[in-house]
Amino acid sequence: MSKLVPPHGSDTLKPLMVPEVERNEEIKRAESLKQIRMTSRETSDVIMMAMGAYTPLEGFMGHDDWKGACQDMRLSNGLFWPIPITLSTDRDTANSLKQGEEVALVDDETGEVMGILEFSESYTIDKQWECEHVFRTAEEKHPGVQKVMGQKEVNVAGKVRALSESHYPKTYDYLFMRPAETRAMFSEKGWSTVTAFQTRNPMHRSHEHLAKLAIEMTDGVLIHQVLGALKKGDIPAEVRVKAIDKLLNDYFVPGTAIQAGYPIEMRYAGPREALLHAVFRQNFGCSHLVVGRDHAGAGDYYGPFDAQHIFDHVSSDDLKTRPLKFDMTFFCSKCQNMATGKTCPHPEEDRVTISGTKLREMLSEGRTDVPPEFSRPEVVQILVDWYQKGS
Ligand code: ADX
Repeated sequence: MSKLVPPHGSDTLKPLMVPEVERNEEIKRAESLKQIRMTSRETSDVIMMAMGAYTPLEGFMGHDDWKGACQDMRLSNGLFWPIPITLSTDRDTANSLKQGEEVALVDDETGEVMGILEFSESYTIDKQWECEHVFRTAEEKHPGVQKVMGQKEVNVAGKVRALSESHYPKTYDYLFMRPAETRAMFSEKGWSTVTAFQTRNPMHRSHEHLAKLAIEMTDGVLIHQVLGALKKGDIPAEVRVKAIDKLLNDYFVPGTAIQAGYPIEMRYAGPREALLHAVFRQNFGCSHLVVGRDHAGAGDYYGPFDAQHIFDHVSSDDLKTRPLKFDMTFFCSKCQNMATGKTCPHPEEDRVTISGTKLREMLSEGRTDVPPEFSRPEVVQILVDWYQKGS
């Protein structure tokens, strides 16, 4: 029996990918069906379903699940779920669908058929209400709110049978690990407690420190980076992957950290998103999730530790993956080591910190003199090279 945390709300993982032997025929069949064109976020959610990361969801949410997820962080069957997973389309398409009818789910950008939806219901939503619950704001400047507000008029729900994971960039094939695969790898290593380190950044010293603290506290760490679309200004995946590879190679004990990527598109929902991150990390077999400062935040919509506090209201019956909470992390020139707000008594001036804006400015000027206490020189070099190529 596995020593790892069980999948969320289920004894077994539920990947929604159609078995390989049936796939070609299903793709051909899908060509004759009505189509729903999906945004990159919806496509990324289908891939999350395909790989089993959204176990035990069986597809896109209906009205009651949508409402429950927004309002009480629970599906209509009582299962804990903190962010709605929905699909939208125009009113005419929604009205034309009959219950039980199959629809092809097509990625709008590539035209690829990603899956088939068995239509069960359509419903309109109050988008502002959704945003106020999920994002704690309905301000259109918030990158997650923008996407919800930009959804089409009607939500459509139904079971999904996924047909492709290939939207995921080929170059990252070596990082593509499904929950069943991470679980197998952890078990092979004899790990029972594993910490997920969620990231959408190249890893600087504070990230490295947090990952290493997690290695001290649990059997190992899964450096789990977002490979779905990000907001403007975020470093793209191909650069991040390179930087993280280099860091792991040069500064980690081999075998203590596994790098993998996953296809979600960030919602930047701060606290609610931290909970969603924990839900699917449970599916990947991770008992813990690093939640540091401003986890999954954007701008100053959330307090720096709101994403930690929210876990205090969620019991381990509802969510097995628990947070490893860390205070603000930095290098202190008085302590002469990495420290956190909890362990370092020295004032702000002694801390080596650089704002994101300042860092981008230095890198785009080709400056490699970013303090090594802030970021490893090897990582800085990779970032400078990218900026020099015209980012
Ligand atoms: S995230 O949006 O994907 O969460 P990021 O890649 O910046 O962002 O952070 C990854 C994890 O490290 C998050 O849990 C975040 O809270 C934490 N973190 C990043 N930098 C710091 C820091 N300086 N101090 C404490 N925690 C940090």
